[in-house]
Amino acid sequence: MSDKPVIVDADDLIAGYLPGISILNGCTMQVKEGELIGIIGPNGAGKSTFLKALFGLVPISAGTVTLAGEDITNMRADQLVKRGVGFVPQTNNVFPSLTIEENLEMGAYLAPKAFKKQLERVGDLFPVLMDRRSQRAGSLSGGERQMVAMARALMMDPKVLLLDEPSAGLSPVRQDETFLRTREINRTGVTVIMVEQNARRCLQICDRGYVLDQGTSAYTATGQELLKDPKVIELYLGTLGA
Ligand SMILES: Nc1ncnc2c1ncn2[C@@H]1O[C@H](COP(=O)(O)OP(=O)(O)OP(=O)(O)O)[C@@H](O)[C@H]1O
Ligand SMILES: [Mg+2]
Repeated sequence: MSDKPVIVDADDLIAGYLPGISILNGCTMQVKEGELIGIIGPNGAGKSTFLKALFGLVPISAGTVTLAGEDITNMRADQLVKRGVGFVPQTNNVFPSLTIEENLEMGAYLAPKAFKKQLERVGDLFPVLMDRRSQRAGSLSGGERQMVAMARALMMDPKVLLLDEPSAGLSPVRQDETFLRTREINRTGVTVIMVEQNARRCLQICDRGYVLDQGTSAYTATGQELLKDPKVIELYLGTLGA
């Protein structure tokens, strides 16, 4: 682990959608400034729930989350956006009836003055979107929508970006692009916490991975270590990893 300060500290989270039914049963994660973190685990493990709990969308009944030392447990999403947290959900992550540019404007609604400057910056990362800025998001392919969603989250210039399965449903080429772009965004100084179904690619690019199982963060190690871990190979990477 780097010797940078901790930026996100989730300690022993219990959280769920309905009272008395916890989906997260003690999730702990410590993320340092500038890290690229990958979260892997089986379907239904609580990966999306964990990101939603960090972003104030699922109530946390016990445990705490801090952002750069400030307690943000159960803080509302708009307050979190103001504090520099961006979230790209797994599904329904664009406004289909709005154009690409309007979607990006929505991303900057808390800081409209910065819109132009941010649009330029984000446009450099996603030139394709700029070429098609007046096209309605609803008429885009899955991969293009994913791009719009990521670009929208970046419009607020987040310090921490939460990504839920950014490569899901994309062709292998588009998946590669998404992983490369995520790493590029990370290299501009954005701390990234990414949930991924594509465990191998995710572990290849992340600094550290977490394995989430049954609502508990089972273990963590560097991406490289997890790629060689016999249990991770057996459960998440298949025999090709051996
Ligand atoms: N809105 C909801 N209301 C009630 N229960 C939910 C809701 N969303 C998810 N759950 C339940 O929470 C558990 C964890 O779901 P979650 O979506 O966090 O898993 P996941 O690890 O992201 O899975 P996947 O890999 O399939 O995306 C599941 O048992 C699911 O049924
Ligand atoms: Mg999920």
